[in-house]
Amino acid sequence: MGASTPRHHLTSQPLPLITKRIFTYALYALLPLAVLHYLLFSPPPPGPPPLAASSSSSPPPHGEVRKAAPAPRCDYSEGEWVRSTAGPRYNGTSCGATIKEGQNCMAHGRPDTGYLYWRWQPRGRCALPPFAPGEFLELVRGRHVAFVGDSLARNQCESLVCLLTSEFPAELVRGGGGGDEERKFRRWVFPSHNATVSVFWSPFLVNGTEKSSAPGGLDYNRLYFDQPDERWAAELHGIDVVVLSVGHWFLHPAMYYERGEVIGCHHCPEPNRTETGFFGVFRLAVKNALREIVTRTARSPPPSPKLAVVTTFSPAHFEGEWDGRDACARSEPYAPGEKEVGYMDREMWRAEAEEVGEAAADARARGARVDVEALQVTAMASLRADAHPGPYMNAFPFAGGERARVPNDCVHWCLPGPIDTWNEILLQLVKRWRTAAVSFSSK
Ligand SMILES: *[C@@H]1O[C@H](CO)[C@@H](O)[C@H](O)[C@H]1NC(C)=O
Ligand SMILES: *[C@@H]1O[C@H](CO)[C@@H](O)[C@H](O)[C@H]1NC(C)=O
Ligand SMILES: *[C@@H]1O[C@H](CO)[C@@H](O)[C@H](O)[C@H]1NC(C)=O
Ligand SMILES: *[C@@H]1O[C@H](CO)[C@@H](O)[C@H](O)[C@H]1NC(C)=O
Repeated sequence: MGASTPRHHLTSQPLPLITKRIFTYALYALLPLAVLHYLLFSPPPPGPPPLAASSSSSPPPHGEVRKAAPAPRCDYSEGEWVRSTAGPRYNGTSCGATIKEGQNCMAHGRPDTGYLYWRWQPRGRCALPPFAPGEFLELVRGRHVAFVGDSLARNQCESLVCLLTSEFPAELVRGGGGGDEERKFRRWVFPSHNATVSVFWSPFLVNGTEKSSAPGGLDYNRLYFDQPDERWAAELHGIDVVVLSVGHWFLHPAMYYERGEVIGCHHCPEPNRTETGFFGVFRLAVKNALREIVTRTARSPPPSPKLAVVTTFSPAHFEGEWDGRDACARSEPYAPGEKEVGYMDREMWRAEAEEVGEAAADARARGARVDVEALQVTAMASLRADAHPGPYMNAFPFAGGERARVPNDCVHWCLPGPIDTWNEILLQLVKRWRTAAVSFSSK
C-alpha cells in the first residue's frame, strides 16, 4: 500500500469566513435548481441523473448517540486526506462494464490521475485499513448487501463491486440489459462466497413519484410519507446489510403528503402554498425508512442480526458557474482547515446521524435484531472537490478543442475515486457488526 505523507498546503488563502458563508448560502439558494435540472432533464447526453451518498461513526455536532460499546469504536468521520503512493485496486478498463459511463473518468479521457493517490487519515488513534476484498466477502458469506437510494447509492454500490471484483469474479444476475432503468436495480452474485450485492433505486426512500421530462410528466416530485417504498421494503427479509443513501433529490421542487393531506412543499409548485423547505422532510424520510426496517425486523426476527447503515450526505462542489470550464476543476483535495462543511451539508449530516441514533435505540428497546449505524462521509467528501467527473461526465469533452461552456457533474464521484474510501469504512462497520453477532451467539 505504500507510505502516506501529510500533505502540504500551498493553495489559495481561505476566504474570510463571512464571505464564505454568504457564498455558501447563495450557492445553495441558486445553484441546485439549475444544475439538477440539467443533470436530470438535459437532452440525451449520457448524463447521470443527479443524486446522493456519505460516511461513518460519531454523530456530528449534536450529543452522544450511543452507549459505550465493548471494543473502542473508531470514529472515521473527521480527519484529513494524505498523499499515498498506492493507487486504486481497479481502473476504468478492468471494471468498465460495472461503472456508469458518466463516472468512468478514465474512459472518458480525464487526463490527470493525482486525485487517485490520497488516503483518508482519520483524526485520533484509529487508522483506516485499505479495502480487503477477501475479508469483506468472508464477512458477508451467504449474505446479501443492498444499497438503497439515489444515484449516489448506485455510485457507492458500483465502487464496492469494482473493489470486490478486483479479486473475485461476480455474475451480474439482474439488470444486465444495460438500459438506464435496468441499471437502477442491478444485482451481482459472488459465487466464491455465495454473497450478493445489489442496488435498489429509491431516491426518497419513501414512496413517491419523480419529476419527469416525459410528455405530461410533472416537473416536480411528490412524496408520500405514510407509504414505504415497497420496491425495497418488501425485499428486506432477504437482505442482511442495507445501506441507505439519499439527499440531492430533496433539493428539487416537491409536494409532500401524509395520509392524503399536504404536509408541506419546497419551491412550491402549487399556488398559495407555504414553503416549508426540505430539511424537515429529509429527516422524516430517513426516520421512516429506518423505522420500517426496525419494525419489519422486529415482526419477523431473522436467524442472525441485520445491519442497517446510513451513508450521510455527500456534498456537491459547483465552485463557480455550473457550466463553466472550472466548475469543479481542482486537482487536489482541500487541505485541513481550508474548507468547512457547508451549512446545508452539515444540517443533512446532523439529521441523518441523529436519526440513526434514535433508530438504534428503538431497535434495542424493541428487541429487533438489527444494528443501525451511520457511515459519516460528509466531512471527507466535502474536501474532495477534485474528484468529480466534472466535464468528463461526457466522453472526451475537449476533443474538438477547448470550450468555455461545458456541462459538469460535480455531484457524483469518479470511479475509482474517493467513494472507494466509503467502502473501506463500510468494511469496518460490517466487521464490527459480525464480531458483535458472533460474540453474542457464543455467550
Ligand atoms: C487496468 O488494470 C488492468 C488489470 O489490472 C491492467 O492490465 C491495465 O493495464 C490497467 N489499465 C490502465 C489504463 O491502467
Ligand atoms: C447461499 O446463500 C443463500 C442466502 O443468501 C442461502 O439461502 C443458500 O442456501 C446459500 N447457498 C449455498 C450453496 O450455501
Ligand atoms: C406508491 O405510489 C404509487 C403512485 O402514486 C401508487 O400507485 C402505489 O400504490 C404506492 N405504493 C404504496 C406501497 O403505497
Ligand atoms: C391565492 O391567493 C390569492 C390572494 O390571497 C387569491 O387572490 C387567489 O385566488 C389564490 N389562488 C388560488 C389558486 O387559490
